[in-house]
Amino acid sequence: ISIHVTDVAGTTREIAGDIGTSLMEIIKVAGIDDIPAFCGGVCSCASCHVVIAPDFAGLLPAMSEDEADLLDGSAHRAEGSRLSCQVKASSELDGLCLTIAPQE
Ligand code: FES
Repeated sequence: ISIHVTDVAGTTREIAGDIGTSLMEIIKVAGIDDIPAFCGGVCSCASCHVVIAPDFAGLLPAMSEDEADLLDGSAHRAEGSRLSCQVKASSELDGLCLTIAPQE
């Protein structure tokens, strides 16, 4: 699938990723280094925070309580905020637009 990623500096790039791979991994593999992903994708660091465009927010899987709690601790929480390690690429998400949230 293809994903449009806007980095912290405001540059948008279209990148490709495989279905079943987390958005965090897809972004990192593409060489965009605004996501440290300190915990390696196990939903405990919140450093993979992204904001999903409204058109796609409703297509995402529901968030776990852990993910919601971590996002609540972020000063950059917005409508559409998700931890990108917790969202896997799926065919419905082709064309997804997201913005990487700044680190605290
Ligand atoms: Fe740590 Fe997503 S990489 S919460």
